[in-house]
Amino acid sequence: MTAPVLEVHLSETDAAHALRHDVRLGLSADPKWLSPRWFYDARGSELFEQITMLPEYYPTRTERELLRQVVAQIAARAAVDALVELGSGSSEKTRLLLDALTATGSLRRFVPLDVSESALRAAMAAVAREYPGLVVHGVVGDFTEHLELLPAVRSERRLVAFLGGTIGNLVPNERAAFFATLHAALHPGELLLVGAGLVTDPAIMVPAYDDAAGITAEFNRNVLHVLNRELGADFDVSAFDHLALWDVTHEWIEMRLQARRAMTVQVPAIGMRAQFAEGEQMRTEVSTKFRRAGLGAELQTAGFTDQLWWTDPDDRFALVLAAAS
Ligand code: AVJ
Repeated sequence: MTAPVLEVHLSETDAAHALRHDVRLGLSADPKWLSPRWFYDARGSELFEQITMLPEYYPTRTERELLRQVVAQIAARAAVDALVELGSGSSEKTRLLLDALTATGSLRRFVPLDVSESALRAAMAAVAREYPGLVVHGVVGDFTEHLELLPAVRSERRLVAFLGGTIGNLVPNERAAFFATLHAALHPGELLLVGAGLVTDPAIMVPAYDDAAGITAEFNRNVLHVLNRELGADFDVSAFDHLALWDVTHEWIEMRLQARRAMTVQVPAIGMRAQFAEGEQMRTEVSTKFRRAGLGAELQTAGFTDQLWWTDPDDRFALVLAAAS
């Protein structure tokens, strides 16, 4: 077994700077916002794991079942040398891909990219143990910033997997930049596999982000604990209510935190004070749901052609395999 290689492009100080920058911008904006990137500390990642098992949260299990159905077709189309996984949290889906791609005999390398070094180390160690023939080359980085740093070997053909519906956390101009940067990092013929939530009945979508057990509410509020810990802020976390709504114009689920009372929050690390009015709402996440025509066109515009689409029987989730032109 080859020892796993870890490349760090995102030092803890980079992450700390990015957090300060984001929070300074977001808390001085009107309306206020926070980036969903900061949900995922150890507690937030654990809460997200719990969310994926909730009866209301259909995306994870829908994507997993769909991938199980079509992974052999993907592998047949994608005789690739390397699997690159952006945001490598999804262990079970990774294994479906690794199993199918190793079965075709061409796969040599697994390149997970994640912002969390600890999550990455754990994932790398497990994959290295379970797939002894595979070279595991992890990259600590942000998929919106470090795509050009993905290890490329001229002779190697890669499949980049971006699963889970995380693409939906980007707003349209961020998605355009992301797809363009990814396309620029790929050689012609290299492949992209995207998992994306589809527009469906709001009576299905909204409860997925507002579950009866209140796990998503806790996940949402956890971002305030992150700010308290990392920036010395003094958010009274229990004074914020979780909101999830379907924005019909943008076709995204928006999560917000609503201040139950007027309050002033100190954020010492950035020398900032934020005032909240009673009832004020702060956006913490958008989770875009797509239509085939729209996402297909976005991919095409960025240079991803020869698209193959698969959807689950209820049309709630899609997998798209496309080639860089
Ligand atoms: C992991 C980003 C895909 O947007 O559905 C789950 C995160 N937010 N519940 C999503 C999330 C609220 C999730 N992603």
